[in-house]
Amino acid sequence: MELTILLLLALLTGLWVLLARGRPKAHGRLPPGPRPLPFLGNLLQMDRKGLLKSFLRFQQKYGDVFTVYLGPRPVVIICGTEAIREALVDQAEAFSGRAKIAVIDPIVHGYDVVFATGERWKALRRFSLATTRDFGMGKRSVEERIQEEAQCLVEELRKTPGALQDPVFYFHSITANICSIVFGKRFDYRDPEFLRLLDLFFQSFVLISSLSSQVFELYPSFLKYFPGSHRQIYKNLQEINVFIGRSVEKHRETLDPNAPQDFIDCYLLRMEKDKSDPQSHFDHQNLIMSVLSLFFAGTETTSTTLRYGFLLMLKYPHIAVFPLMNWRRKWQPTAVFLPGESCGQRSLVGCCQ
Ligand code: HEM
Repeated sequence: MELTILLLLALLTGLWVLLARGRPKAHGRLPPGPRPLPFLGNLLQMDRKGLLKSFLRFQQKYGDVFTVYLGPRPVVIICGTEAIREALVDQAEAFSGRAKIAVIDPIVHGYDVVFATGERWKALRRFSLATTRDFGMGKRSVEERIQEEAQCLVEELRKTPGALQDPVFYFHSITANICSIVFGKRFDYRDPEFLRLLDLFFQSFVLISSLSSQVFELYPSFLKYFPGSHRQIYKNLQEINVFIGRSVEKHRETLDPNAPQDFIDCYLLRMEKDKSDPQSHFDHQNLIMSVLSLFFAGTETTSTTLRYGFLLMLKYPHIAVFPLMNWRRKWQPTAVFLPGESCGQRSLVGCCQ
């Protein structure tokens, strides 16, 4: 009995401490917004059908710029083209920072081109832009890589004429291969290492977008002590980083300073050039994280765009046929199905030869 009372007291004290710690601090200069509750912020005022609806409701009441508390964390929302233009274009420098994503922060730690801020971000961005542009226009252009990859895809599709195909795997593979401008080589669609890499990438994306990761985003300092998707994401990204580390070592062995072959080669040369500069942002950690980010930023976005493009072409076939006819090539129908479609509903898309 005494133990139960003690436990209850401990629980209540814990809850009280949490509420007291979670009480939103007074942020005098933040834009107006709905009144937050301690620990929960404005969560109870949010529409369960999606945040967007709630934000539009708040916009009507508080104007184009307002503050909502997602848990204890204040978030300033900017709505409407004028307000967005004013912030992101007219005051681009002030708004150039990027918020942390709690589930990946333990891996990223502010390194890399996507999540770095300030001078580090500027240096890495300038370098990444120049390097990827060089490879686009240089010896082995991106267009050539795309053509080579398209050819490999067509050959792969030819192996299973008329058979049911899930194009998602191919979209992942081809975009990862095109983005392999960072690694300098394409991978075979059946290479076990490549398949593992893709699996880790896309599994992590699903986990990062999951409900449990979104809840983690609200209370990371508390939930990090418990099991959950954040731990799996950490493990996955670590494994990818080990792969990138191995690739960097191979690049070191084969590096020809007069003929850098890819992003990693260029980065290693820059590290060498900057080695006596203690202020340089070009170190090993930033290299690993920048490669991870470029690969992440490039593959998911491009493969999702392709997936939606295909989906729209399947929905509106008269639009799909038009560009194919314009290419004046032979059009061979191939059965495919997209996520959410059952095999019975499969659709036909063209395979250009
Ligand atoms: C259809 C394809 C793509 C879409 C829709 C897309 C979309 C975006 C968006 C919305 C951002 C955020 C911009 C911002 O916060 O200012 C972004 C940033 C970024 N993207 Fe893409 N992207 C695509 C392809 C790629 C590719 C192929 C790469 C590289 C191989 C790439 C690398 C990056 C990087 C490095 C950033 C961060 C830039 C920075 O913080 O300075 N993206 N992308």
